[in-house]
Amino acid sequence: MTPIIRPRRMRRTPALRRLAAETRLSPAELVLPLFVREGIDEPRDIAAMPGVRQHTIDSLKRAAGEAAEAGVGGVMLFGVPETRDAEGSAADDPEGILNLATREIAAEFGDALVVQTDLCLDEFTDHGHCGVLRGGEVDNDATLERYAAMAVAQADAGSAVLGLSGMMDGQVAAVRAALDGVGHEGAAILAYSAKYASAFYGPFREAVDSQLTGDRRSYQQDPANRREGVREAELDVAEGADIVMVKPAMSYLDVLSDVAAMSPVPVWAYQVSGELAMIEAAAANGWIDRRRAIEESLIGIKRAGADAILSYYATEVAGWLR
Ligand code: PBG
Repeated sequence: MTPIIRPRRMRRTPALRRLAAETRLSPAELVLPLFVREGIDEPRDIAAMPGVRQHTIDSLKRAAGEAAEAGVGGVMLFGVPETRDAEGSAADDPEGILNLATREIAAEFGDALVVQTDLCLDEFTDHGHCGVLRGGEVDNDATLERYAAMAVAQADAGSAVLGLSGMMDGQVAAVRAALDGVGHEGAAILAYSAKYASAFYGPFREAVDSQLTGDRRSYQQDPANRREGVREAELDVAEGADIVMVKPAMSYLDVLSDVAAMSPVPVWAYQVSGELAMIEAAAANGWIDRRRAIEESLIGIKRAGADAILSYYATEVAGWLR
């Protein structure tokens, strides 16, 4: 038998494969998450996230500068405060570590990079939950007030895009109203719409010194639910989200694809700490080719429908793409 139709024709040479590629990656659509820790003199390695560090303000600036130099689209800042309390007061304190760092990074790199901030309470509360507790439960509506205050503080500090990662109902509408009420109509909202209660956030707990003892299953989504991811994105769009996100990425590519098919706003995905940790551990053992695995993971996320990707590999990959 001699086949008439031969798909292999288009795979024959590197030049043909390059021209035929359906999906491409570019530095501008990558966002680098960065951690800044209060009260340290030297950056600290995060054991469970090889290559990722908790930064001082100075080393944070260097990392942001390298990202900008490589053409990365933006940074997402996470703060690790020295002291925590039940309400997470450092989150909306203008002198709190995240707001302080945002002010510095926005002033220095605000034109070259889209400076973005994580808007959630878990790094700031002494119990490690993403909201305030009332009677042992995370109280949705009391938490919205805290998010509103946090949003204003972050926008005041110069954050261009607020990453709402707390999974409270009505958080987009509450934050939008608070921002508009004080003249921050220009601050955009990135809604972590379909955020699943995932084991792949494990290494991130070390990155932010998380105080959490239980889990987040009463507010983050059940990994079993696909339709619900689309519903969460619909609600966030209706509440005024400028971008919707699916997180983690690799285990939720079906949800990402569904959301990409329905969303009228850009759809982003987050390649989370555990996704990095798996690649690094396997590569360190010589079990996979590190660079190929990183490139394949990112192209897979794009192929599924992501317009941009948050990845700890952003700067390194941007360098490869040059
Ligand atoms: C919440 C937040 C988390 C991550 C991003 N924002 C932790 C969580 O929800 O438990 C995880 C990111 C990662 O694992 O890389 N502030």
